[in-house]
Amino acid sequence: MTLARQHQIQVVAHRGASEDAPEHTLAAYEKAVDDGADALECDVRLTADGHLVCVHDRRVNRTSNGRGAVSALELADLAALDFGSWKRHHNEAEEGEGPDWEGSESSEGSAGSAGSGLSADTSVLTLERLLELVADSNASGRQVRLAIETKHPTRWAGQVEERLLMLLKRFGLDAPPADDPSPVRVMSFSARSLHRVRAASPTLPTVYLMQFVLPRHRDGRLPGGVRIAGPALRIVRNHPGYVAKLKRAGHQVHVWTVNEPEDVELCAELGVDAIITNRPKQVLTQLDQL
Ligand code: G3P
Ligand code: CA
Repeated sequence: MTLARQHQIQVVAHRGASEDAPEHTLAAYEKAVDDGADALECDVRLTADGHLVCVHDRRVNRTSNGRGAVSALELADLAALDFGSWKRHHNEAEEGEGPDWEGSESSEGSAGSAGSGLSADTSVLTLERLLELVADSNASGRQVRLAIETKHPTRWAGQVEERLLMLLKRFGLDAPPADDPSPVRVMSFSARSLHRVRAASPTLPTVYLMQFVLPRHRDGRLPGGVRIAGPALRIVRNHPGYVAKLKRAGHQVHVWTVNEPEDVELCAELGVDAIITNRPKQVLTQLDQL
């Protein structure tokens, strides 16, 4: 048994195994599952025609070969884009070679991932497809959880949460038993978004993400009903005592984004419940050896 398991530290793949593969692609999530991640993190946004897709930025410019706001594009527009080539160019510029998630230039064309059996699919990922991946992984004996972050939920007046809960319902994940660990949790920087989720589904775990600690949360209390705190790593580094405060207030603590070994060590020492990282394999290996 690994220390991660002994200490119950969940290793959460941030946007998938996003150091190795293009963030938020099927390839990145399959790699994370293959690496042994306990959970997958994703950001969700609504397309112009009401689909939830996994994209971090408001625009697709950084992570695809297209341009424009996700909210102004329809799913068919997004499906025509490539969300992988930016990473190849980035890696080539940095390392002079392609990443190992990418299909080898074999006679088998673009399918496959250098013989790894992982997907080379770098089209836009819908939340529905990601939920299928989680369901398939769990059906095959893994225990993979999904942490879904609502991005810019306030401008949609509840539509993001409504669509999200409809989709979770289709997978039987919208109303987990209160006494059972839920395979899905919803995260947000917006207390209002989490409030909407809890109002519709009181047993679905919610995570309040924090860039900074607002005065009203200094004593470790979170917005009503939220059980999990999601502080940025910089909060934990600068105020390590805050983790204990949150825990004393009865909250789990999930820290993001933790990539460097010294920060993993700090999080383990402080007894955090989850480490959200771009490098799930490396973090799991380190926790094994601590
Ligand atoms: O897991 C929380 C973290 O993802 C929040 O920041 O910008 O990476 O979505 P961001
Ligand atoms: Ca996120």
